[in-house]
Amino acid sequence: MSAANVKRRHFILGALSTVLAAFGGSRLLPSIDAAPPRQSSNGHGGSHGDGVFGVMGEVDHERNGFHPSELLVDFNYGDRVYEEDRRTVREYNLVAVDKEIEIAPGLFFPAWTYNGRIPGPTIRCTEGDLLRIHFVNAGSHPHTIHFHGIHAAVMDGIPAMPGMPFDMVGPGMIQPGDSFTYEFVAEPFGCHLYHCHAIPLKRHIHKGLYGAFIVDPPEGRPEATELVMVMNGFDTNFDDENEVYAVNTVAFAYNNDLIPLKVGERVRLYLINLTEFDLINSFHLHAEFFDYYDHGTTLTPTQRRVDTVMQCQGQRGILEFSYQKPGMYMFHAHQSEFAELGWMGMFHVTEEENNGSA
Ligand code: CU
Ligand code: CU
Repeated sequence: MSAANVKRRHFILGALSTVLAAFGGSRLLPSIDAAPPRQSSNGHGGSHGDGVFGVMGEVDHERNGFHPSELLVDFNYGDRVYEEDRRTVREYNLVAVDKEIEIAPGLFFPAWTYNGRIPGPTIRCTEGDLLRIHFVNAGSHPHTIHFHGIHAAVMDGIPAMPGMPFDMVGPGMIQPGDSFTYEFVAEPFGCHLYHCHAIPLKRHIHKGLYGAFIVDPPEGRPEATELVMVMNGFDTNFDDENEVYAVNTVAFAYNNDLIPLKVGERVRLYLINLTEFDLINSFHLHAEFFDYYDHGTTLTPTQRRVDTVMQCQGQRGILEFSYQKPGMYMFHAHQSEFAELGWMGMFHVTEEENNGSA
């Protein structure tokens, strides 16, 4: 099945069948009200009368080379870590590669990726560390890496205009086959991101060249179960609209693989919005409230006790919460349309066990 043939409305119908399959027969979830398929008169996408696209089966995570459950907790503290001039140095290797990724059962997206995955590696360090990010462009188009954070202009990863001196803008686009090492001291602490900044930017971002960049405060944060969620969307037919939405790329991934939590456990969720085309995305937590740290650059919450937060593209923050009762709890975009197109998941909260296993 070609992604280009999949119209947005058809995916909704397919997505619905996935939801029903996920929830159908589960007596744990008697009150899930899966919405009926949306009517086609919303001005979005096409509504050809050529039948229903049904999504069957499961995404082949092995073929993708990554599993959404692993992406949640896959922190990269450096491929090489050492001390230099009494400073911790962390080296990372990022390679841009073109890769087809299955974003929903049977639906393949011709992606551009860092290290073959979307989002790319979650780069993690402590404020004050010196980072050396070795970037190799093994893709078919010129790319860069632009980090959010504080650094010199040369390390900013933007395209250079002809004739601009290197020390003002850096190397510009890294051509296919070329490489460059971005180097800077990690600051400020917070929940950040990186992404390709090649032109046209919206294409390079929505194709999948982005990832989480977490800088821990020197004093650390209180102990918690930490999760990374990058909100994203996929324009599968190149009409500048997303047909599929997700956190961490695979539609409904955390309906199929519930995220296990314990009652009373403190959860820290790094939330980043890299959705292209739509002005905002949002996160809504069911049956609990969270503290929110906008950009993660403070140690005290910027919002207390909210259950929904919205982010524009590039915005991000940290959510902290804990569930007091066992059960299954949904989280999803509070744009219902996004939720029905893949951006929803479930926490499975169980009582703390006495056997000491975390
Ligand atoms: Cu790019
Ligand atoms: Cu940015």
